[in-house]
Amino acid sequence: MSVRTRPRQGPANAPFAPLGHDACDLPPYAPRIRGRLPAGLSGVLYRNGPGQFTRGGRTKRTILDGDGIIQRLALHNGAATYSRRFVQTPKFQAEAAAGRFLWPSWTTTAPGLTANLGQNVQGQAGVTVYQAGGKLMALDEVAPGFEIDPDTLATVGPVSLGLPQSDAGMKAHGRRLAATGDWLFASTRLGRAGMQIDVVRHGRDGSRTATPTVQLPRMTYLHDFGATERHAVFILHAVHFAPLKFLLGLSSFSQCLSWKPALGNVLLVIDLATGAARTFEAPPSWCWHIANCFEQGNALVVDFIGYDDAGHFLGPNAELAAIMRGHAGVQGAPGLLRRYVADLATGRLEAQVLADDAVEFCSADPRHAGAPHRRIFMAHGGSGAAGVAWQTAVAAFDTATGTLDCFDFGPTTHAGEPVFAAKPCGGQDEGYLLVQLLETERAASAFAVLDAQCLGDGPLAVIELEQRHPLSFHGMFVPGS
Ligand SMILES: [Fe+2]
Repeated sequence: MSVRTRPRQGPANAPFAPLGHDACDLPPYAPRIRGRLPAGLSGVLYRNGPGQFTRGGRTKRTILDGDGIIQRLALHNGAATYSRRFVQTPKFQAEAAAGRFLWPSWTTTAPGLTANLGQNVQGQAGVTVYQAGGKLMALDEVAPGFEIDPDTLATVGPVSLGLPQSDAGMKAHGRRLAATGDWLFASTRLGRAGMQIDVVRHGRDGSRTATPTVQLPRMTYLHDFGATERHAVFILHAVHFAPLKFLLGLSSFSQCLSWKPALGNVLLVIDLATGAARTFEAPPSWCWHIANCFEQGNALVVDFIGYDDAGHFLGPNAELAAIMRGHAGVQGAPGLLRRYVADLATGRLEAQVLADDAVEFCSADPRHAGAPHRRIFMAHGGSGAAGVAWQTAVAAFDTATGTLDCFDFGPTTHAGEPVFAAKPCGGQDEGYLLVQLLETERAASAFAVLDAQCLGDGPLAVIELEQRHPLSFHGMFVPGS
């Protein structure tokens, strides 16, 4: 197994600032293409992420926090068409008209003495974009999500995921199960007894099936989850949420989170049919994202990216906040690709580190979601600065051989989450990775297209945008003719 130790270098020369700039709507245009797009690559890549960080002289506290802007990259017959458009949430429209922030968002308090009282955080629809149930949806972790026109990117209106209390506390990440094509969505909410979690299944036939509510053993923060046909899997990391200052309007939601390594992690496995929950103890590890999980016999396997601490996010000078002030801040421990193997028969859990490389934004071939996967695709810290927000490379970890296939775009290029686009009629992992780049020397963003099984060969094509685009979180490729 390939294990390399990558030093945590200070990103003194890393051009962080362009990642958090404000964006604007762009009508469709045909960007220039370096190289040649594969003839069989046809469809649309949608991406979502924050695009408005400043208003009225105030800046969001972290780079994770801003109004959602949807990107659309259509690929057909070797040509590309690009556009982007803000999600027209009521918050976005009212704040744009006022020229200032009016409401708190999840990491940032709003100006004014009373604006932050109670659970007054507004949704920004700025984390994920999914085509599910025939609708393109932009989601974040405050309800509601919004339906987006897949061609024009116009905001159609709010959507309901069918979670309790009008989707309150919904998770931005959903999970599509490859075997059935069903989708799972989840929410956490506060009750008198603490924190509860709900899961709802959207069947391909239009049905919606709720799993009985599960009481969480701790007050924490969850961003992602994993799923198989039988189970939903949550990594309850060693984080405590103390809501008092949030409810009094004295702190943002994220400022009420604290890293408590003594708690350790708990892997929560929920039976989707009955709501029966099992817990497995694990070492403390912050987790944003799960690549995939699957079951083999009594073993439940969960591949995810975990950090030995939450230094990059929690704390007054954490990297993801310091970026907004032009500083590197505290990077903390790097995110490493890890695996939990939970034995459903014995109740034991084995925790492994699969590769000692700084990585984020993991996924597997979506045709194997909830089933055994081979390659895990990730943004990789590359050979330069290894801050959590500044990856320069794309990598694939082969779980069969323990090897890493990697391509580094160089220290002046930021590489975001790779999105898998399957080759028509191709087998497992046969496809392309679409990677959004920020080419700082060109002062513009781009999309690289790589063969998902030969990343080390470098891009087959690079689609050069004419503008910069801020940090974009997540995307989905919708194949088409
Ligand atoms: Fe995410």
